[in-house]
Amino acid sequence: MLNKTLERYTAITEEKLGQIVKQESGLLQNTVFDSMRYSLFSGGKRIRPALVLGFCSALGGDEKKALPFAAAIELIHTYSLIHDDLPCMDDDDMRRGRPTNHVVYGEATAVLAGDGLLNRAYEAVFSEETVELVGAKTAIEAGRVLAGAAGVYGMIGGQIIDMENEGKESSAETVNRLNELKTGALIKAAAVMGCIAAGANETQIKAAELYASCIGQAFQIIDDILDVVGDAEVFGKPIGSDADNNKTNYVTLYGLEKAREMAFELTQKAKNTLDVFEKPQFLAELADMLYERNK
Ligand code: IPE
Ligand code: IPE
Ligand code: MG
Ligand code: MG
Ligand code: MG
Repeated sequence: MLNKTLERYTAITEEKLGQIVKQESGLLQNTVFDSMRYSLFSGGKRIRPALVLGFCSALGGDEKKALPFAAAIELIHTYSLIHDDLPCMDDDDMRRGRPTNHVVYGEATAVLAGDGLLNRAYEAVFSEETVELVGAKTAIEAGRVLAGAAGVYGMIGGQIIDMENEGKESSAETVNRLNELKTGALIKAAAVMGCIAAGANETQIKAAELYASCIGQAFQIIDDILDVVGDAEVFGKPIGSDADNNKTNYVTLYGLEKAREMAFELTQKAKNTLDVFEKPQFLAELADMLYERNK
């Protein structure tokens, strides 16, 4: 079930992304569209859109209503990666198996492409088409969740803590907090937006948040592990980036074996939250796949 569903979610998300960020002839700003599309269509795993669509469908909701939110979160995620790779941040030259955005387009265009993706995300959430499809209240609720998770109380907050922790011995508490924000916040927002699209109740939203916070932490633990033991060809990004930047992360704190055990426990805990959903199978299989991934 997992692979077929994931493929379908990826296909419908990419079709929507193609409509949101399209190349038009005769525009003087076409370079920024090229640069946005370069990073957007380069083979990301599309996990966050899969969570939006997966939660909506686990609740028996209408996938079509979740699709603009699925696209929006992938736009924001992709922007965060372009900026994360810049020389002033992680200074990485490979992403999703290709040279990073700034390597191809230069830093100024890469910054603007990131900003462009960020703004298109909210245009997609609040467009007339979306409001007509889901209703103004649902669009506002989803937009509020997304803005909170992407901002200084979410992903951006995590990124600044991450930068400030380079070259320091950070505590486990700090590392947990920074990951909860830099990675966990968008993953949680994806789950909650899927719930919102399906008209979930409070209990279901609480369960979705707990599932997402467990797989979010596990996701970053595995990312930190793959940064050490991954295969750059498969992983799509350079190995050893965290060590080069003197980051304290789950691997430096706990070692590879213990870190993997923690990710395993978190994955089991995530799966145990799924009882309140009508059709939890996809989400359970997704949690396992994210634990076992090598890319
Ligand atoms: C990478 O996210 C950044 C982290 C939060 C660890 P993904 O591993 O989801 O990246 P893509 O979208 O598949 O490239
Ligand atoms: C960044 O974490 C997560 C973002 C918010 C972009 P990392 O710096 O570990 O992500 P990768 O390993 O470069 O994808
Ligand atoms: Mg980083
Ligand atoms: Mg990075
Ligand atoms: Mg990483």
